[in-house]
Amino acid sequence: MPETAGSGSAPPGAIEVGWEIAADEAFRRIVRSGRELATPQWGHSVHAEVAGLEPGRWYWYRFHARGAVSATGRTRTAAAIGDGDERLRFAFASCQQYEQGYYAAYRHMAADDVDLVVHLGDYIYESSWGRNHVRSHDAPEPITLEEYRQRYALYKSDADLRAAHAAHPWIATWDDHEVDNDYADNRSQDLDPPGLFLKRRAAAYQAYYEHMPLPKWARPRGPNMQLYCRWSFGTLAQFHVLDGRQHRTHQACPREGRGGSNVVSAEDCPQLNHPDSSLLGRAQEQWLVAGLRGSSARWNVIAQQTLMAQVDRRPGEGQAFWTDDWDGYSLARRRLLGAVEELCVANPVVIGGDVHMSVVADLRTDFDDPRSAVVATEFVGTSISSHGLPRRRIETWRQDSPHIKYADPTRRGYSVVELSGKRCLVRLRTLDDVRDSQSGIRTLKTFAVDDGRPGAQPA
Ligand SMILES: [Fe+2]
Repeated sequence: MPETAGSGSAPPGAIEVGWEIAADEAFRRIVRSGRELATPQWGHSVHAEVAGLEPGRWYWYRFHARGAVSATGRTRTAAAIGDGDERLRFAFASCQQYEQGYYAAYRHMAADDVDLVVHLGDYIYESSWGRNHVRSHDAPEPITLEEYRQRYALYKSDADLRAAHAAHPWIATWDDHEVDNDYADNRSQDLDPPGLFLKRRAAAYQAYYEHMPLPKWARPRGPNMQLYCRWSFGTLAQFHVLDGRQHRTHQACPREGRGGSNVVSAEDCPQLNHPDSSLLGRAQEQWLVAGLRGSSARWNVIAQQTLMAQVDRRPGEGQAFWTDDWDGYSLARRRLLGAVEELCVANPVVIGGDVHMSVVADLRTDFDDPRSAVVATEFVGTSISSHGLPRRRIETWRQDSPHIKYADPTRRGYSVVELSGKRCLVRLRTLDDVRDSQSGIRTLKTFAVDDGRPGAQPA
């Protein structure tokens, strides 16, 4: 796994950075080493790619530059087929508004016995919002590359977040707040001229690439960046990591004079069921279906940003949907879940974030027909620190959504998934108090999915 070094107060020129990978924490047995040039054009980040390591084991790494040595990080290689692929444990997390809480969840995650961390977006927030802040962004909304770099530098000044990076390898994808709330492709929520907004997107994507452990192939070109990708862990698991922002069609029926999300009914907004609307874009949809078709893994983890299950936000008669999640792209969702059913994809498990609550749901081919097939299982993780909605509102939404088996917006934390040949076990790890930097953590609930039987049960 590549790792990055941030911009900080680096001198103006390029700097040669050496890296070392060791089989032991004390660096007695250095197994690989190399050099990268850290340039000011890329915020003095380096993305070292290491080949030839053994599968399914821990390694330690560090950087050298101008006589200084970095802190040590630990990483783990993916298991190979038949070699350590009997079990995989990973944590997943999302939504870490810096002002709304501390990152105690990351301190616990760093100490947790997991092989991998998956981040599902809203790693930074561009905007300040919410009440009762515990700390401040101390800067307005970023627009330029330098301003986005400063925002990452602030978030990464948190020692608990850095500890979680140093303890585990990460897979990361983004949601909207890495750029702008509710953006869709080239459209911002303030309806900035698309050319201008794409300049901002280019700055935001570059800062994301510089600060996240991404491979070199993800390096952005102007406003475009390749992010969706696949990772295999022997025959046990394949991760299909999606990008739900860059390639999506614009949200249907926004509010007057605005871009972004809205809550609308299908009667008032026929575009909600437009066949051309797509949350992933057609190319990524085809790539995903091809990958699901070709997968021979026992568990297919679809790692994406937001809630996939339908949520009718109007209790009783009639239906209303939020246009920013999969409800705003319902035919694209039907295409995807239809393909999952038709291809008999092995154990599809969808993980998501974005909505700042834990959700466990059955994914059906037709959410309005309780007799339709359950084809996949969904787990949405709660936020690391971002505020959740009131519980009362969530209970109202659940009235007409019986496929949602569990929903709790009141807690902050992360989720831990354990995959084995026989089942998938998901633990919801929640903080006692996100406003306490030293908060304890507990496993609030545990759910299980049995091999070959989509749908989660309390465990
Ligand atoms: Fe969020």
